[in-house]
This record gives sequence, structure tokens and C-alpha cells, in this order.
Amino acid sequence: MNNTVVSGIRSTGNLHLGNYFGAVKNFIKMQDDYNSYFFIADWHSLTTHPTPDALHQNVKQVLAEYLACGIDPEKSTIFIQSDVPEILELYTLLNMNAYLGELERTTSFKDKARKNPENVNAGLLTYPVLMAADILIHKAQFVPVGKDQEQNLEMARKFAKRFNRMYKTETFPIPRPFVFDGEDMVKIPGLDGSGKMGKSEGNAICLAEDPKSIQKKVMRAVTDQGPTEMNQEKPQVIKNLFDLMEVVSTPDTVQYFDNLYNKCEIRYGDMKKQLAADIIDFTTPIRERILDISADDAYLGKVAKMGAEKARESAVKTVKEVRELIGFRKFY
Ligand code: TRP
Repeated sequence: MNNTVVSGIRSTGNLHLGNYFGAVKNFIKMQDDYNSYFFIADWHSLTTHPTPDALHQNVKQVLAEYLACGIDPEKSTIFIQSDVPEILELYTLLNMNAYLGELERTTSFKDKARKNPENVNAGLLTYPVLMAADILIHKAQFVPVGKDQEQNLEMARKFAKRFNRMYKTETFPIPRPFVFDGEDMVKIPGLDGSGKMGKSEGNAICLAEDPKSIQKKVMRAVTDQGPTEMNQEKPQVIKNLFDLMEVVSTPDTVQYFDNLYNKCEIRYGDMKKQLAADIIDFTTPIRERILDISADDAYLGKVAKMGAEKARESAVKTVKEVRELIGFRKFY
């Protein structure tokens, strides 16, 4: 049975509620049913030239946060990409069959090149090839991806097919997007009425954020003048508050404020106070675990080592097979 799942995690720390309900929560569920590999993509992050200290700090924070959320190193393989050098070998081999034209046409490449014209480096161009190597090295069947990564996954599928065709083999399964169904796919709105919660949007509430700061952000959330007619449809900014409440509060609480809204008796201040309290109740145990884990270098070391060993076991096997196929045969 092959039910292998691979997912890369950007090495920028500070997961927010949107990340949690959009992805991390699903990863935690997946580890029970799939042979799961989760890794922190620190090679990918070099495309933006982080300072060495920032890079290390970020990787550490991300690792601590995923563990704090419930990624279980006994159930899934959680590792740091740069601990598995075999990925780079596969990346090199795949690069030989990745063409300039198709790489240049990738939307994410064009976006990044446009935003940072002074740093259009080769790593950026071949980002999808490295991502394909991440996926193919474990012969993944599924990759949980959000909208923004669909094209990169499409490239990985293309490279896998190309390799299989070229070497007349079925070495690589063609990885498919893993789509979380209906209710699992929660879109978390931001607090500024702009739609999605995102770090770059500056409207995010982080899991590691201290309660005072959360309180302040929620109380400052955009609202309107209030409903003027019974059972009036909610404008987006108000719907956002309710959507957030859906994920952190009890159904009774949501119902309570919904009724008040429908009767035009809602006081947004009260609702926000409740929402802030419920968010804080939700994040507090996670924040405390993040702090505990990041203070425990021995534990982090143990987890990273175990992950690297498990990931390399699978990576070494794939690279050996691929070398044979390509014609790298041992003289000794
Ligand atoms: N590119 C992904 C992102 O920005 C991270 C990533 C790297 C990834 N390698 C991967 C995701 C392999 C899935 C599979 O979010």
C-alpha cells in the first residue's frame, strides 16, 4: 500500500490561526492514516537570503510550533530539509530535464522576480524543481497544497512523468493534490475586513501571541454601524467576526450573538470581548507548549535527529534506484 504524503513547510515562524485551521489541523489528522513526511523547507528559504541567525531561529520556531500543535514525531516523519542531502542529488538530476522556458513561465517565479528584481537568482528559478525533489524523493502519492502551490505541484507531476518516460520506468508515482473535504477546509478571515488571514496582510493572530496583544487586535477589528433591520444579511466585516467565532467558540456562543444580531440588539464590543477570550483560551495551551518546546534544545535535537534518520532511509533508497536508472553504475 502506498499512501505516502509529503508536505513542505515554509521556514518562516509564527503560525497564525489561518495556518492552523487551514493546514496544520489537517496534517495532525493525516498522520493517523497516512505515511506522512513533513519537513521544514530551509533550502527553499535561502532564495530570500536570510541572515544565518534569522534562518536558524526561524527553523527552530517552526519546528517548535508544529510539535506544539500536535505533529507527533512518532506517527509522522518530521524533519529539516537540509538534513537530507539526497534531496539535493535528486534536485540536480531533475534539473537536467527542467527547461528554462517552463521555469520562467511559472507564476510564482514571475511574481517574485517582479517584486525583487535585484534578486532573481537561479535558486528562485529552480524552486519548483527542488520542490519536486522533496516530493519525489519519498515517492509521495499525495501532497496537501493550497491554491498558491497548485502550479508547483503541477510541475512536480510533469517532472515525474518526464523522468518515468525518459527512463522507461514507473519509479515515481505521479503525486496528486490532497484536497481536504468540505468542512475541513476552513478559511479563516482576517480582522481588518480584507478577507483571508495572512501574515503579510498584517491582520493575523499568531498562535504564540501573548493574550494582551490578541485582545488588542480583536477589540480593534473593523465593524459597522450595526444592523438596522431584523434578520438582515451580514456584511463581510461582520461575517468575518462570526466566521472566526465559529472556529474558536462553542456553538451556543455563536448562536447567542447571531440571535442578538438578528434582533438588532448586538453590541459588537461584547461580541469582540467574547471572541478575544475564546481565541485566548484556544491559543494559550498551544503558546505554552511552544515556549516549553523551544526552551528544550535536547528535545528538539532528538526530534530532528529521529526525523532526519527516517527521512534519509527513504531518500537513500530512491536515490540509489534513480542513479541506477540514469546509468551511474558503480565501478567499485
Ligand atoms: N513551496 C511550499 C510553500 O511555499 C513549501 C514546499 C517546499 C512544499 N517543498 C514542498 C510543499 C513540497 C509541498 C511539498 O508553501
